[in-house]
Amino acid sequence: MTNIAVFASGTGSNFEMITKKLNTKNSTVKVRLLICDNPEAKVIKKAEKLQIKTYVFNPKNFKTKQEYEILILSELKNNHIKFIALAGYMRLIGNTLLNAYPKKIINIHPSLLPAFKGLDALGQAVKSKVRVTGITIHYIDEGMDTGEIIAQEPLKITPPYNRIQIEKRLHQLEHKVYPKVIKQLLEENNEKSFN
Ligand code: GRF
Repeated sequence: MTNIAVFASGTGSNFEMITKKLNTKNSTVKVRLLICDNPEAKVIKKAEKLQIKTYVFNPKNFKTKQEYEILILSELKNNHIKFIALAGYMRLIGNTLLNAYPKKIINIHPSLLPAFKGLDALGQAVKSKVRVTGITIHYIDEGMDTGEIIAQEPLKITPPYNRIQIEKRLHQLEHKVYPKVIKQLLEENNEKSFN
């Protein structure tokens, strides 16, 4: 069994889909913990409903990233977490977690990286008037949206660029692809490095 944690700061639609798709009877990969840095986030209620343990913290109560990441790390260890999927977690991961989980932290980003890194990837795509955007799943490193790419899916977009519509289609794509990629990655690696 591979226990995973999801980190999220907001709505949590990806958290919800990953959990629903992975936490099935015969699955060998299961979401066991939600880490959330925003006490107001909607994702917390979703975790309650799905009966997923949650660790919520407020970064404002800490002087440094290292301080709160040490606490996150102890939650991860106590829950035997072997792998981390970021899903709308609005902070850079620091060395405390990177060193403890080398090549075991991944993220989903709503653009075809390396295009449109950082905040409001969709806004950047619309502003650039591109005809194709998409989603990227990648490993986490010290940079912002710079880690090695694992999977990408394109999405055609056309002017006049209805943002709400495009956002909806991007989310649909994320919900379809992210759980699948996590499952594949962990099933492939199970023998090698996760036990
Ligand atoms: C997703 O679009 C993801 O690509 C980005 O943050 C968003 C999170 O959405 N990193 P949700 O909270 O999972 O609904």
